[in-house]
Amino acid sequence: MAHPLPSFAQHFHDRTKYDPETLSRAAGAMQGSQPLPFKTYRLGNSIDLKPYLEGAAEPDKEQLAWMRLSHLLINTYGLTAQLSLPSGEPFYLRSAPSAGGLYPAEVYLISRGNTLLPAGLYNYQARSHSLWRYWDDHCWQRLQEACFWHPALEQTQLALVTTAVFYRSAWRYRDRAYRRICLDTGHLLGNLELAGSLADYRPHLIGGFADSAINQLLYLDEAQEGAIVLAALADRLQVEQNLTPTLAALAAPTQTDYPPLADGDLLPYLHRITSMAADGDIRWQHRAATPSPADPESADPESRSAALPTDKYNFPFCLKVKTLTPPIAWDERLQGLENTILQRRSTRELSGANLTQAELNAVLDFTYQPQHYREQGFDAEPDYFDLDLIQTFVAVSGIDGLDTGCYYYAPHSQELRQIRFKNFRRELHYLCLGQDLGRDAAAVIFHTADLKGAVERYGDRAYRYLHLDAGHLGQRLNLAAIRLGLG
Ligand SMILES: Cc1cc2nc3c(=O)[nH]c(=O)nc-3n(C[C@H](O)[C@H](O)[C@H](O)COP(=O)(O)O)c2cc1C
Repeated sequence: MAHPLPSFAQHFHDRTKYDPETLSRAAGAMQGSQPLPFKTYRLGNSIDLKPYLEGAAEPDKEQLAWMRLSHLLINTYGLTAQLSLPSGEPFYLRSAPSAGGLYPAEVYLISRGNTLLPAGLYNYQARSHSLWRYWDDHCWQRLQEACFWHPALEQTQLALVTTAVFYRSAWRYRDRAYRRICLDTGHLLGNLELAGSLADYRPHLIGGFADSAINQLLYLDEAQEGAIVLAALADRLQVEQNLTPTLAALAAPTQTDYPPLADGDLLPYLHRITSMAADGDIRWQHRAATPSPADPESADPESRSAALPTDKYNFPFCLKVKTLTPPIAWDERLQGLENTILQRRSTRELSGANLTQAELNAVLDFTYQPQHYREQGFDAEPDYFDLDLIQTFVAVSGIDGLDTGCYYYAPHSQELRQIRFKNFRRELHYLCLGQDLGRDAAAVIFHTADLKGAVERYGDRAYRYLHLDAGHLGQRLNLAAIRLGLG
């Protein structure tokens, strides 16, 4: 339903926009030293996952199951590098990138009770690559209730929850941290989804859940930490867990009547009003398979094009460049994927050299055309919240054979459509807050959304979904670029 007043999500977005003035104020936000990005528990017991990172010569069934879980978690959010701070303290980097290296996310597993993990609650301790079992009781039914009886939880035995410890990121970014928290979590979801292909798990994303019920189930202090997203982890080696995907997003209320809020209060308010109540009358819907123009198995061409969502900017006069390309090769049993995830680092400086069109096409193809990667063992239709809400633009500054300018990437037609003709390096430098990366990049990829339209579809909770999806796409872009030796 359309609302005459801006929703709180729109208000939050406006209030947390940077301009030269707010940037200089934001720079003074940090007090004290960076919050520790790790949780510790007093009670419980530890399960070491490190021994299962090495492949045993002939692993038995149980060892194999531990190896799969161990690899899934290290690829999703494990430590992958160690730096030394000027104080001599170690600083750890992880498989997922994080704005400012603040790592607000925590990862939990909820087990229904299987041979591997007895029923209970587990926190992933990235520092020691172990699971901390801090609650040993059956809570699956409470989980199902809190997720409005999501169909994937009927058959699965394991669920992953990511939460945010808000202050870790708000320490530096204040209210704007909420954007980063959700983008960071999206990158983590990108890892989870891809690592699932490596480890034979299929994550079924659950974006609609009764927030407080999940927070209480995990024994979180809601003033400090809150659940952001859940995933039912289907074991692909169990026939009964090969499930039909369900739509991941649920609509929630829209708030247009909000009190005047001071800076610093916007983040907690946004998180609270985008939460869902436990008593909603919710019906989950299965997701229809998306027909794709490049998918030879989909229906006949006529019904296919009728069913396809339409791309934007289909002007007859604009330059259109097809992005069809051979898929990136990820090696036997996706070993190249695991190496890439574990070796990935953010590029700090770019050479300013041009890329080829083939390189740009390959990065776009891996990110937006997962159906081309089915044969290599990837999920051809991974879960997102709603990709129709996200638009992708590519500012081209140095791609051989491609005019400089701004292009819309049409995901269904698989082509770039030129909408502006100009070299934007100067503007990109400004838009990236004066970071040379923006100026020197051969291409800068933007994800944008019509926030008002998204809120009309999902209420203010759309704010979470949009950032999670943009982050998820971002991590695929990241990994494709690293795999090709690009920054
Ligand atoms: C949402 C998000 C925004 C980021 N923004 C920037 C940025 O503006 N400039 C930059 O150099 N790095 C940026 N990064 C990269 C982080 O600084 C980097 O992930 C972090 O320092 C950890 O290093 P790693 O990615 O090499 O593991 C961003 C990362 C994320 C996830």
